[in-house]
Amino acid sequence: MSDRELTAAVAVLRAGGLVAFPTETVYGLGADASNTAAVRRIFEVKGRPASHPVIVHLADAVQLANWARDIPESARKLARKYWPGPLTLILERARGVSDAVTGGQDTVALRVPSHPVAQQLLARFGGGIAAPSANRHGRVSATTAEHVRREFGAAVDCVLDGGAAEVGIESTIVDLSGGKATLLRPGSIAGEEIERALGMPLAAPARDAPRAPGTLAAHYAPETPLTLVEGDLLAELAATLTRQGKKVAALALTEARPLFPAVTWLAAPSDAAGYARALYANLRALDAVGCDAILVERPPQDAAWVAINDRLSRAAAGSFLPDAP
Ligand code: TXA
Ligand code: MG
Repeated sequence: MSDRELTAAVAVLRAGGLVAFPTETVYGLGADASNTAAVRRIFEVKGRPASHPVIVHLADAVQLANWARDIPESARKLARKYWPGPLTLILERARGVSDAVTGGQDTVALRVPSHPVAQQLLARFGGGIAAPSANRHGRVSATTAEHVRREFGAAVDCVLDGGAAEVGIESTIVDLSGGKATLLRPGSIAGEEIERALGMPLAAPARDAPRAPGTLAAHYAPETPLTLVEGDLLAELAATLTRQGKKVAALALTEARPLFPAVTWLAAPSDAAGYARALYANLRALDAVGCDAILVERPPQDAAWVAINDRLSRAAAGSFLPDAP
């Protein structure tokens, strides 16, 4: 990242504009977190309801006290262990943190990203950068600068290109407010790891309190209906739909595709880290084919795949296989 690009991006933030930037998880759509009008613009551009809070990104944990109060020892512990990195902590908000950032809640989401470009941008800017994932509300997150440009065009003032995101799926979110520790969103840092670091079990989120849209059903979704299919049924279902005249795209865990040339077939990496890294680019590629259905082979169900299965089931929520003619 050139010095000139960084200087320009910081100037955009200071002027209340929007800067898309890479993080190790996914690209973020950033604004000065202390500028309410700038934060509101993020919501407009994303088409996101104002009640949904955004994460404030910080250069380092030293800045925690500017944004949170009554910081528990558990937060210090996790910050020491995982920051900079793909972990977001929910804490009681400090006085003065805008309702636009917190969605009017008494808590605030904080994260110190590790991507070098995010680090440089935050260090130069000096303050907090409010940033949700750089995608239209409910849609697939962006893992490259090109995804961001295609998603928003000129609506974003500046896009910093830091290459393809390394992790590929959004950060693990742990809520440490109210004296409890709750896993709000699984991510590449597994819940079990957090439990070991804290020395206590994590609570499951209350069913009636879906405070994080990324934890709602029907999120991370391509435009094309997406269906999860058991591996041994994938080729057969793709063949059946094709015979019915449907255009089918498949995300499989094997190169062994059915003998139907009409089916678009993508073989995903078979390890969880590789699968996650490629997931959103794969979904975008399959969406771009303009099919009637995206069939995704259901990945393994073990611990390493929890966050991936979480995203896939939300991407599939509300989708149904197209009817036979
Ligand atoms: O990896 C990530 O976390 C990426 C990168 C850009 O940092 N960001 C991201 O932001 O995924 P977003 O807005 O797409 O998802 C953040 C989630 C949302 O579901 C939001 O509702 C939740 O965090 N969240 C933010 N503040 C919260 C709060 N105070 N209480 C509960 N959930 C909160
Ligand atoms: Mg998001």
